[in-house]
Amino acid sequence: MERLAAAAPRRPGFTCLAAASQALGLALVLLAGAWMGVYRGGIAWHSPELQFNAHPLCMLLGLVFLQGDALLVYRIFRNESKRSTKILHGLLHGLALVIAMVGLIAVFEYHKKKSFPNMYSLHSWCGIAAFSFYLLQWLLGLVFFFCPGVSFSVRSSYKPQHVFFGVFLLLLSIATALLGVLELVLFKISASYSSLVPEGVVANTLGLLLVAYGAVVAYILTRDEWRRPPLAEELALSMDFKTLTEGESPAGPR
Ligand code: HEM
Repeated sequence: MERLAAAAPRRPGFTCLAAASQALGLALVLLAGAWMGVYRGGIAWHSPELQFNAHPLCMLLGLVFLQGDALLVYRIFRNESKRSTKILHGLLHGLALVIAMVGLIAVFEYHKKKSFPNMYSLHSWCGIAAFSFYLLQWLLGLVFFFCPGVSFSVRSSYKPQHVFFGVFLLLLSIATALLGVLELVLFKISASYSSLVPEGVVANTLGLLLVAYGAVVAYILTRDEWRRPPLAEELALSMDFKTLTEGESPAGPR
């Protein structure tokens, strides 16, 4: 069957930016791992201090890198079927949620073992909001886009909200991570931070990588010309689905 995407225009700059997003995402996760490994004693579940170190790494891997990649799949896999792309999108978000949950358990258990207060900082408020709305967005996505009983017009009217909150939650997660970086620096090296000590430079570099990752992903997502065009068979299928769920004739008024 003829595929419209095959005739889609070339996307100058897209490949470079998509590669840059992956390089930046990997770099920020690796740098967070190096920060925890070299300056904070590593990561382990049995000791409270080392258990905390799982928090930044899991949050960055889950709520930043994997969340960003889940948003990019529709731009990167333009010639794959919508169904496979949708499944990959849902799976990446699901994996991101599980990893972020491990990161949150790590910090809450650490606070409990050390008898530290919970949920007092701006970072923790933004963080719990980002995670809760991310979970809600995933559940709503599952219901609206994977449940066969949901009609075409309900799906179509929910889609713009889903797209907006997708980008917003990634940016909120990045802002939360920046607050977390700053908080950790102030807790651990406040006395030496102003002398530009190596750990402070690592933390600042991580912050810059987060900003750059957010900028590149948001740029890719907001280019209309880089959107995934529907394949010919998908156009036909969506008309069938509209007819099935709403009883309209494909030739009827739009
Ligand atoms: C999107 C990413 C992140 C989210 C959603 C998040 C969420 C949270 C939440 C909900 C808490 C409160 C735990 C409690 O009150 O017991 C917390 C604590 C903490 N997080 Fe994060 N975090 C993220 C990333 C980071 C990063 C990247 C760092 C550091 C590099 C970090 C450092 C901290 C620190 C130091 C605390 C303890 C102090 C506090 O409660 O504010 N976080 N985080």
